[in-house]
Amino acid sequence: MKILGISFGRKNQRCDIMVKEALFAAKGAGAEVQFINTMGLRIDHCHACDYCARCRDRGDVEVRCCLKDDYHILEEAYYDCDGIIIGAPVYAVGIVGQFKNFLDRLCPSHDRAEMWETNKKREAEGKPLLDERYFKDRYSAYISVGGANTRNWVALGLPMLHLFDFSFIQKCVGHVDAYDQGNTGSPILDRALLDRCASLGTAVAQSIGKPYSEVDTWAGDPDDGVCPVCHCRMLNINGTTDVECPICGTWGKMEVADGKVKVSWSEEQLNRARNTPNGIYEHYNEIQNMIKICVPKLTDPDNKALIDREMDRYKRFDQIVGNK
Ligand SMILES: Cc1cc2nc3c(=O)[nH]c(=O)nc-3n(C[C@H](O)[C@H](O)[C@H](O)COP(=O)(O)O)c2cc1C
Repeated sequence: MKILGISFGRKNQRCDIMVKEALFAAKGAGAEVQFINTMGLRIDHCHACDYCARCRDRGDVEVRCCLKDDYHILEEAYYDCDGIIIGAPVYAVGIVGQFKNFLDRLCPSHDRAEMWETNKKREAEGKPLLDERYFKDRYSAYISVGGANTRNWVALGLPMLHLFDFSFIQKCVGHVDAYDQGNTGSPILDRALLDRCASLGTAVAQSIGKPYSEVDTWAGDPDDGVCPVCHCRMLNINGTTDVECPICGTWGKMEVADGKVKVSWSEEQLNRARNTPNGIYEHYNEIQNMIKICVPKLTDPDNKALIDREMDRYKRFDQIVGNK
C-alpha cells in the first residue's frame, strides 16, 4: 500500500513538516510513502478545452489533460497511490489556488459515475476499458495550515480541501486545522500538533485495504463541526431548521437545546453525500438532463441566428464603450 503526501506550502516550512510527520506515522504503520512539494511546480488552471472528455469519448484508455506543465507529476503519483494526505496553506481565508488548479484538472475529468458509464458502454461494444487506477477507492486526510490566531481567517481552509474527495469517491478519515501558526512559529515547537498530524498518517494506513463500509475511523480535531461525513464547521441555512452541509451537499435537521446546536442526519441523506456513489450519480444525472435541454436550445436555428446576431455586440465591447 502506497500513501502519497502532497504539500502545497513552501519547501521545508509548515505544510511540509506536518505532511511529512503524517507520512512518518504511515510508514510506521507499514505503508510505502511518497512526498511531493509543489512549490517549484507549474500547475496552470483548467482551460475547459474538453480535451480530457474527448480522450474518454474517442475510446482512449487514459483520460489526460493536454496542457504542458508539471500537473502530470502529481497526476501520476495520485493514480499510483492508495491513500493521500494533503497539506496546504490558507491564503486569503481559502486554500492556495495551486491546490484548486490541481483539483479542477484531475477530479471532474475522472468523475467516477462518468467513468463507470463509459466502461459500461465500452464493455458492451468490446472496446478497451479505462485505466483501472481511476476506479481505486482511496482514503484521504487533510491538513489546512494558516498563520492567523483565530479560525476566522482560515474558515474555508478545510472545507476546500475536502472538495478533493468527491469525484474519486474517496473516504476521508481525518483532518487537522493547523491555524495559529503565527504564534506557534514552527509545528516542531508544538508536539501535540505533530501528534495530531501523525494520527492522520496512521488512520489512512490502517484503513487502506478495507471496504469503506468497514471503516468509521475519524482522526479529527476536538472541536470539529456537525457534519458526520466531512466534520467541517460550515452549514448553509435557509431560514428553516433544515440545514445543509455545503461540502457534502446533505441536508440535516437542526435543533437548539440548552444553548447547544444539534443536527441530525438521516441515513438517506448520508448515503447521498457528494463523495458516495449515489451522490456522484445524482450530479451525473443532473448534467445528463441539462444536456438534453441545453443542446437542442443551442442548435435550434432561430436561437443560433439570435445568438450570432447579439454576440456581435459583446465581441465589439471595447469599440462600443469607446476603449482603445
Ligand atoms: C498571500 C498570503 C495570504 C495569506 N492569507 C492567510 C489567511 O487568510 N489566513 C491565515 O491564517 N494565514 C494566511 N497566510 C499565512 C499562511 O497560511 C502561513 O504562512 C502558512 O504557514 C504557509 O504555509 P507554509 O509555511 O507551509 O508555506 C497567508 C500567506 C500568504 C503568503
